[in-house]
Amino acid sequence: MTISVHEKEFFFHGYVVQKFKTLSMINLKRFMEDMMFKLPELPYDFGDLEPVISAEIMNLHYSKHHQTYVTNLNAALEKYAQAEKDQDLSAMIAHQQAIRFNGGGHVNHSIFWTNLAPTSKGGGSAPTGELSKEIQHCFGSFDTFVEKFSALVVGVQGSGWGWLGYNKGEKKLQLATCANQDPLSTQGLVPLLGIDVWEHAYYLQYKNVRAEYVKNIWKIVAWKNIEERYMKAKS
Ligand SMILES: [Fe+2]
Repeated sequence: MTISVHEKEFFFHGYVVQKFKTLSMINLKRFMEDMMFKLPELPYDFGDLEPVISAEIMNLHYSKHHQTYVTNLNAALEKYAQAEKDQDLSAMIAHQQAIRFNGGGHVNHSIFWTNLAPTSKGGGSAPTGELSKEIQHCFGSFDTFVEKFSALVVGVQGSGWGWLGYNKGEKKLQLATCANQDPLSTQGLVPLLGIDVWEHAYYLQYKNVRAEYVKNIWKIVAWKNIEERYMKAKS
């Protein structure tokens, strides 16, 4: 059954939607679904990053952990939109933490999946071109960069991320760490390469030896993706 809705305002994710004079309920449902954040498609199969990351970890990490961030982000945004509509400032502020945490989780993991690739598809191949030159310029050599980044990310206390980012103001590469799911943009940097060091990313395979996970992950880093991000960031 199709029910027409005439000149009604729809408030969703902070936007008043009124451009549709007539909108069937089926299309309204589809429209609202389109407005929601979704789990991005994984660019490889769960087992393709083995032996560095097991299929079991990839399945859980993507299908459960990332999916939960997306689900909770959409729920928090809906609650925020309702609070905004009600002009309930206290509730709006209360929902911001959930948006930051789950939104950060969605942003970070969406980048992370593309930062990795099976070795058969270029994972682990050294960077080339301008990014390679900039790494040498900023860190002395690629090996020194890997050493510094690894030490930094292994040393993250508790759950968090290590990042190679681009500092647009100073026009240079920069290493940083972020606690929990804070996205790198909170530090004013453009994310290029992120390493997830939450235990859910490695514990089933590496137990408490985070250093071994970080040592191995360089074998599947998709430098082509990071080069593309770098060129876009500096353009
Ligand atoms: Fe994660």
